[in-house]
Amino acid sequence: MLPDAMSVWREVHSLTRAGCRALRRGSVAPAKPPRAESAMEPMMSNYNSEIRPARDVARSVERDAPQSREGGYVAKPSLTDRPAGDDGMPRSDQETWDALYSSPVESRRSGALYNAFSYPTKIDPEAIAVFVAAHTSPGDTVLDVFAGSGTTGIAVRLCERPTARMLGEVERLGLDVQWGPRHAELYEISVLGALLANTMCSPPPPEDFERAANEIVDAAQREFGWMYETRDDAGDPGRMRHIVWSEVLTCPTCGDESAYWDLALEWDPVALRNDAPCPHCGEGIVFADAARACRPAVGESNGDVGLRRVRRPMRVYGATGKRQWSRPVGTADLDLLARIAEVALPASVPDRQIRWGDLHRSGYHLGINWIEDLYTRRNFIAFGALWEAIEEQPAELRDALRLLVLSYNASHGTLMTRVVVKSGMAGLVLTGAQSGVLYISGLPVEKNVFQGVRRKTRTLCEAFALTACGSARVNVHCASSTRLDLADASIDYVFTDPPFGDFIPYSEINQINESWLGRVTEPDEEAIVSKAQGKDVAAYGALMKSVFAEVGRVLKPTGAATVVFHSSKPQVWSVLGDALTNADLEVQRTSVLDKRQPSFKQVVSEGGTRHDAVFLLTPASGDARKYETDHAEVLADVHARFGHEDDQRLYSRYVAGCLQQGIEVAMSAPEFYRLHVGGAYR
Ligand SMILES: C[S@@+](CC[C@H](N)C(=O)[O-])C[C@H]1O[C@@H](n2cnc3c(N)ncnc32)[C@H](O)[C@@H]1O
Repeated sequence: MLPDAMSVWREVHSLTRAGCRALRRGSVAPAKPPRAESAMEPMMSNYNSEIRPARDVARSVERDAPQSREGGYVAKPSLTDRPAGDDGMPRSDQETWDALYSSPVESRRSGALYNAFSYPTKIDPEAIAVFVAAHTSPGDTVLDVFAGSGTTGIAVRLCERPTARMLGEVERLGLDVQWGPRHAELYEISVLGALLANTMCSPPPPEDFERAANEIVDAAQREFGWMYETRDDAGDPGRMRHIVWSEVLTCPTCGDESAYWDLALEWDPVALRNDAPCPHCGEGIVFADAARACRPAVGESNGDVGLRRVRRPMRVYGATGKRQWSRPVGTADLDLLARIAEVALPASVPDRQIRWGDLHRSGYHLGINWIEDLYTRRNFIAFGALWEAIEEQPAELRDALRLLVLSYNASHGTLMTRVVVKSGMAGLVLTGAQSGVLYISGLPVEKNVFQGVRRKTRTLCEAFALTACGSARVNVHCASSTRLDLADASIDYVFTDPPFGDFIPYSEINQINESWLGRVTEPDEEAIVSKAQGKDVAAYGALMKSVFAEVGRVLKPTGAATVVFHSSKPQVWSVLGDALTNADLEVQRTSVLDKRQPSFKQVVSEGGTRHDAVFLLTPASGDARKYETDHAEVLADVHARFGHEDDQRLYSRYVAGCLQQGIEVAMSAPEFYRLHVGGAYR
């Protein structure tokens, strides 16, 4: 693959170098793309471009119409290239599409609706709402076949009461939209996602929820608040905010055990070493290679006898009144732990074994086999007490209360919460669980659950207030989208972002929260690439094909679909391309979703990207002409018009171009980045 890609690249280089250099120098006005070599000309009009205003595109329809030529190619035209009224598509729709897909849409990771619950690869609902509003009218029905935490449903509800940001975005893009209630059908295979979607889209009255939330925390605290009471650094009564724990390393030479905290931390300035001499024998310990201490122990929730990880509490961070303090762990703290060890576990705690899959790492997951192993005993009891208190509340409030407790559980309640060292920061930095992985650090943190859940209540009240009233109907189906219980041609618009191949094993991650719900996702039809589930790219492709065939079936002939997707792997792109072709869906416009704060996994994974590609699809026009566009021409076109953009966004443009032209994505993201360094060709 690579030599081919290299030669293609060189060819492209020679075709467009002058144009790109001129663009970078600024000697070509960004509002008008450089004229292409004649061989590229027909294709130039097929992409949406930030640097090509919508009105210009409409005017150029006649001029740029594709030309067939002997032995050459005809670029596959989008509707932009067709005369007005072609396919019965009104000009106003085309102008809406041009405006909406001509510049990247920003997906923020902030605000009450976003922060209400963390879900891997979640999209900003206000960004989705702009797409929904532009593509539909009040009364229309919107479908999401990979609904996750229900953000498309939230977006539909927001169309009834648009936020200031949505109004601003619609104005910026020059869209003509009609606000008002739409309806939504959401399909999500995961038990957790369906609970989130249902609750966020049909929330209880915020004031009822707030009262009930305070009551459950009060009840649990009355019984177990003492577990977080302590003494401050002056010996006065105080409250624990969190405790930093440490795993214990075994010296490979003498077998002595030492806390990782003692071996690794340097304080002035704060830093973490990678190795240190053993305090007992003086021989070096390389932390990455050293064994983590484990002991045989009985799992209390499950009676299982197995190896369990040894950890030591190291430092207490607390508050006395408004004063915050920290101090080393003392004997009173150890006595408190001994007292907690005597408490019987609440009956509501999950006694499930972890269903390890692709995320299992033999190192840091050694001795972590049951849900119980992910918690300190104190926090396991605290969550159990909250869970029991929920049962005392009215039935119509319970799901929202479960969402509240689980939202804290997932991000801050388990041993996946940790401290990290950040350059320029004076002390250790407290941070929540990493999204998209089940990573447990050598310095995990035990937070005060009651304090955290109480604080989270405010965020959820704010979020519920935004979606609480209105007449939009959102139906959530906890089911696989390989079979939709919807009539043919009944859906006006689809917005969806499918799992990106092997990027996130949702059911494996969601099981932590689902264990508390008493039911975990059945993964057979989960559309992912997963070694642990025995699903290769072909198996993933078959599931994606089934889902998109259903999308094609239920979409009205006048309907449209927006799909957000990304992968750094060409094979995964082929899966999407095949699924769309099989469903008779045609790419009409492409754009990128700008993730201002990418997730941890987006930053660190090989060829990771901060910009997902966005595709506008419509039922195929039935045009039987054969189009031929080759890979070099797509690259040339993308570079001529977007060469000034950063590598990651450019890769999204490139794959979007391939899919629009119906050709294979030939380069992985790392190959693409290697060949296109800092906006310049190699
Ligand atoms: C990228 S996430 C969607 C995230 C969502 N847009 C949000 O903002 O929360 C993809 C979702 O597809 C779900 N999924 C995977 N296979 C599915 C299937 N066959 N049917 C329905 N949902 C599926 C996963 O559980 C996951 O929640």
